[in-house]
Amino acid sequence: MKYILSSSIVLAATAAAWNTDVHNQIGFMAETFLTPHTTSILGHILEPQYNGSIGRAAAWADGYAHTDEGRFSYQWHWIDSHDHPPQDCHVNYVQDCASGGCVVSAIANQTGILRECVEDVKARARTGSFMAGGDANLTCSYALKWVSHFLGDIAQPLHASGKAAGGNFVKVTFGNISTELHAVWDGYIPYFAASIPPHHRFSNTTLAPFFAGLVSRIRKDQFYEAPYMWTACTDPATPVECALRWASESNRLDCEYVYGRLDEKADLKEDGYAVGAVPIVELQIAKAALRLGMWLNNLVGGDVQGEGEAWSGTIKGQVVLGEL
Ligand SMILES: *[C@@H]1O[C@H](CO)[C@@H](O)[C@H](O)[C@H]1NC(C)=O
Ligand SMILES: *[C@@H]1O[C@H](CO)[C@@H](O)[C@H](O)[C@H]1NC(C)=O
Ligand SMILES: *[C@@H]1O[C@H](CO)[C@@H](O)[C@H](O)[C@H]1NC(C)=O
Ligand SMILES: *[C@@H]1O[C@H](CO)[C@@H](O)[C@H](O)[C@H]1NC(C)=O
Ligand SMILES: *[C@@H]1O[C@H](CO)[C@@H](O)[C@H](O)[C@H]1NC(C)=O
Repeated sequence: MKYILSSSIVLAATAAAWNTDVHNQIGFMAETFLTPHTTSILGHILEPQYNGSIGRAAAWADGYAHTDEGRFSYQWHWIDSHDHPPQDCHVNYVQDCASGGCVVSAIANQTGILRECVEDVKARARTGSFMAGGDANLTCSYALKWVSHFLGDIAQPLHASGKAAGGNFVKVTFGNISTELHAVWDGYIPYFAASIPPHHRFSNTTLAPFFAGLVSRIRKDQFYEAPYMWTACTDPATPVECALRWASESNRLDCEYVYGRLDEKADLKEDGYAVGAVPIVELQIAKAALRLGMWLNNLVGGDVQGEGEAWSGTIKGQVVLGEL
């Protein structure tokens, strides 16, 4: 695939998170792993404009973080490790999670809120007391949208790295475009992986096949790491422990590849960096989607005390995806 580049390229990379499309697609992927029961319960939580789709709702948190009202949540999108990639990578929750919160604490907080919301919806379903005209409780809708977003963000290696503000201050070139390392991982590499020329205004339908392909590879166990390993910690009753594991995994990639292979003088699209990053980005997106699906299934279908085993694991190497 040859990309034709023009100087008027404006890639909608706000340097805050996986690009909007990527967040949406992680949500759409996760939807395919939800049980019908989970889908039905969550359908009562989102505001009506999302039509019950966490994929449609999964990018909301970035826009919200940039409003006056939502500014407090901006820092919830990452955790700033105090390490030195590529020589040394580690996440230390107590030291690295800022006082106003970080992606790990935000996942824990919003998961806890969402659990109450789920119990509330279940109780109303039992008594048939749904209100006409939608049931949206904004605290609950926001919690579901934040959880759907943050399980994506935490899989982006540079959302678990404090160096140079998550790579936002690292100037690089990608296919002759001057950009920052953070944006390369948020958008340029996923689009490169999906064979989408970065200057095109592409539609949802252009991107969808690439992400659908990842779903099919998850189901066939075709990644260099087996899906049952990704879901080893998907019990929403231990959210800090799980989120910290996910952040640590992402953070390790900063040493192994993101900074480890980086040549700041090179064009990252041409020097092999992008090609080598594709399997990493595919793996991280696939993990985010499967974990999100399992997380929500466990929250809705699992016991509150945590019976995650019923929803994840392997049988003869095959991932057990809920009750599907
Ligand atoms: C909303 O979701 C329902 C059920 O998934 C679907 O049949 C319907 O077409 C959707 N409506 C819109 C406007 O997307
Ligand atoms: C949890 O989230 C709510 C908003 O849903 C926020 O008001 C509260 O400060 C958060 N708590 C922590 C400890 O982050
Ligand atoms: C929204 O849901 C939360 C969590 O279940 C609950 O604490 C709150 O009272 C609800 N708000 C309204 C207006 O029902
Ligand atoms: C990048 O720019 C240089 C010089 O302006 C040009 O020679 C080269 O063909 C460009 N590369 C790509 C991939 O467009
Ligand atoms: C985008 O594509 C997905 C399929 O991958 C579809 O389910 C969804 O409704 C589309 N969303 C929007 C906002 O068009």
